[in-house]
Amino acid sequence: MTNTTAVQFGLEKVGARLGAVIHGMDARQSLDAEQQSFLRDALLRHKVIFLRHQHLDDAQHEILSRVFGEPIRHPTIPAPDGTDFIFDVKSRHGRSTDSWHTDVTFVPNYPKASILRAVQIPPYGGGTIWANTATAYDDLPEPLKALADTAWAIHSNDYDTNFHKHDARKEEIADFRAAFVSTIYRTEHPVVRVHPETGERTLVLGHFVVGLRGIPTRQANRIVEILQDYVTQIDNTVIWRWQPGDVAIWDNRATQHYAPADFDEEGRHLRRITVEGDIPVSIDGRQSRPF
Ligand SMILES: [Fe+2]
Repeated sequence: MTNTTAVQFGLEKVGARLGAVIHGMDARQSLDAEQQSFLRDALLRHKVIFLRHQHLDDAQHEILSRVFGEPIRHPTIPAPDGTDFIFDVKSRHGRSTDSWHTDVTFVPNYPKASILRAVQIPPYGGGTIWANTATAYDDLPEPLKALADTAWAIHSNDYDTNFHKHDARKEEIADFRAAFVSTIYRTEHPVVRVHPETGERTLVLGHFVVGLRGIPTRQANRIVEILQDYVTQIDNTVIWRWQPGDVAIWDNRATQHYAPADFDEEGRHLRRITVEGDIPVSIDGRQSRPF
């Protein structure tokens, strides 16, 4: 190979359907144009990419996030003191986010990508699982595709599929819940969006879904469950077992993720930055909108 920089970094798949480790990059240093475009291409192709042992600080984390887009603040949860865009992912009473979701889908232009770094990892468990929502769509039998193609879902931050697992009497959890819904958002997204960069069709579901437009709640829940089964089937996922300093970057337009509550009361702390997304477009060209 004549290009000397090309041999300095490389890619190793972690799973068949998604996930790849990028080797040979130090994100504490500024990345050159070739490295940045390698990361962006790898993200589109593999949907979640991992950089090992980076040990970024908040400022370096923000610089890395800008490789993928413009960092944005969470709609309701303030960034920790001294940071502009950080969202703290801290376990509470042995749980993190043990329900399947795509980040922040309760707003129309939900994040394009999320960049998550490990700060404190429990001695066992504490991994994160991602699922590919493009292959999930491809797996649907034709009649279910026809249903998904024309369905629209309502997403809201006033949802209950995760918080109900917690003991709501625990003050810390009640406080977080109150902050999370301090402003209530409701957005209508097509159940199938066309990915703006790859052209793939992806399922837009996850725990912020509170209903399907025009379908009674009980039946809507069952339809969502059937579609969601295609997202979360084990063959369609990849797991990452964190080590301190690791970074994961996912295409939030083509994945869902889940953090199993399998680490008892051990501490688990990660920090996330999301970057601005575009407004989803349905197969027939209509955009998501506030509901
Ligand atoms: Fe998340």
